[in-house]
Amino acid sequence: MMTDNDRAWAAGGILAGGAVTLAAGAWAGAAAGAFVTGDEVAPASPLTIYQMATDWSTVWPHSQTASMAGATIADLALVTLLVWGLRSAFRWFRNPSSLATLHQVRELTPKQAARTATRLRASLKERKPKDVPACDRGVLLGDHLPSGVELRGSDEDTYVAIMAPRAGKSTSLAIPVADEAPGALLMTSNKADTYAATVASRGRVGQTFLFDTQGVAQAERDVWVDLVAQAETLEGAERLASHFVNQITSEQADPFWSQAAGDLLTGLFRAAWWEGATVREVMRWLADPKEKAPLRVLYEHEPVLAEQVDSSINIAEETQSGIYQNARTAMSALRDEKVLAWVTPDKSRARFDPEAFATSKDTLYLLSKKGGPSSALVAAVADAVFTAGTEAGERHGGRLPEPMRAVLDEAANICKIADLPDLYSHLGSRGITPFVILQSYRQGVRAWGEVGMDSMWSAATKKVIGVGIDDAKFAQDISSLTGAHYVERGSYSKSKDGGSRSWSEQREQVLDPAEIRAMRKGTALLMSTGMPVAQIGLRPWYAEKRMAHIGPQMRAEEAAITKRAVGAYELRKAARNAR
Ligand SMILES: Nc1ncnc2c1ncn2[C@@H]1O[C@H](COP(=O)(O)OP(=O)(O)O)[C@@H](O)[C@H]1O
Ligand SMILES: [Mg+2]
Repeated sequence: MMTDNDRAWAAGGILAGGAVTLAAGAWAGAAAGAFVTGDEVAPASPLTIYQMATDWSTVWPHSQTASMAGATIADLALVTLLVWGLRSAFRWFRNPSSLATLHQVRELTPKQAARTATRLRASLKERKPKDVPACDRGVLLGDHLPSGVELRGSDEDTYVAIMAPRAGKSTSLAIPVADEAPGALLMTSNKADTYAATVASRGRVGQTFLFDTQGVAQAERDVWVDLVAQAETLEGAERLASHFVNQITSEQADPFWSQAAGDLLTGLFRAAWWEGATVREVMRWLADPKEKAPLRVLYEHEPVLAEQVDSSINIAEETQSGIYQNARTAMSALRDEKVLAWVTPDKSRARFDPEAFATSKDTLYLLSKKGGPSSALVAAVADAVFTAGTEAGERHGGRLPEPMRAVLDEAANICKIADLPDLYSHLGSRGITPFVILQSYRQGVRAWGEVGMDSMWSAATKKVIGVGIDDAKFAQDISSLTGAHYVERGSYSKSKDGGSRSWSEQREQVLDPAEIRAMRKGTALLMSTGMPVAQIGLRPWYAEKRMAHIGPQMRAEEAAITKRAVGAYELRKAARNAR
């Protein structure tokens, strides 16, 4: 701790040092002026300086103007340099709020971020960091406060953002991160806003695919997704089944049913794959427990799996029908013909190919209204893309040459891949950048369980905590991570002979939970592995010059969505009247 005495000595030292530097500067400038005009150069000594201060003309007899000009210029330059140096030192090394200084988050500042990008992206390998444009420097997080310097994470990081509704999740994170994606982009959402904002610009860099079984964006279906193809391996079939079974799994329910339903679905998906059958067939098999065709196929190709599935369903009829019922509930999204069409082979429409997608600059939008059975389909398709991306990364020496971004807005509602927390760090190392956006920590706990959410939270190397955190425990946890600092507090005590004021140093949290809850809208906290907690100013797309193209394209697309909604409504009304 610095005492008042120490402070006085330090101030004295700085003043003396400054005076000596200015005197030396004045001499050097004057000497240069004298030399240029051919005057004799007085030696640098304290005496010369003293004489310069008392009678300039005796020191520089023949070059009074030139030496004076030289001295002034030299001192002005010194002062400017000093001010500039102090300002940048303040900017880099000081933060009045005691949160991270710019120096502490330097890895995320433009030059360093650009350097990381040149390492991670094949197309930037030959570039010098200073020639990398802003949009290619990584994942935009916001501006460091108070310095205002842009911070970007890398495409090797994994991200989780938690913010209340209307806090800027879509405008400041999902849309900018998606719009600047360097390679393939996977985007989930329960609203059409992120789709409308980015579909036109993403359409200019690659193909765009929309998977929208519930008509969130009201668009005509122009692809189909081959779910059965995911059952090419037993593991793939198990993963596919797990996304559906996730619908019927809860902490209260007896795990027997979901496990048995999962085994049954795995067997049926494998049988469908061997047979070249479609999901429609799987639905038919599910409807009739007496149907022996799938088991026959399995016995032919995979007797061990066949036996396992056989014995788990060849039980008391009541139990068997319970298992089938559970499996049907898990797959209930697909009893709707309109939904089934999205995953049924269709000659007149393109098949979405996850493998080609992984190394392209294409975009896949997975839209679904809040929760519900169709979110299983979103999870299944997203997972297929992750698997294809991971495998493509392995084929390219470990990482995708151009990172694939996966912006999972509203992930807890609509993209509930059960083992996403386990996949998290793995994805980052393969060149897939997951960015999960949640409304609260609890929402993540509801989707992935306490253990799952904890592990995703700790696997995320960049965490953004926005405004409106009402969860007291979570706010407390973040508060303790902001660390403590010392603040000077005064106290006043009254006594008979008047009052007295005393000062004391107190240890306090940098931000207490109430301050975290009441953060200013448009700001957020950034927790980055290996760095103290920083405060950032968010950068919504509508305030960005670089993203000026989004406004008009978003309005146009939203108008088109409205038009399609009206058209669909008119059609329904006409059909109703014709009945
Ligand atoms: N084009 C725009 N111009 C100004 N403000 C906007 C614009 N679009 C959205 N906003 C505002 O930005 C805030 C954050 O919106 P959004 O990012 O969609 O929230 P959420 O966190 O729920 O995704 C909202 O208050 C919204 O009204
Ligand atoms: Mg949103």
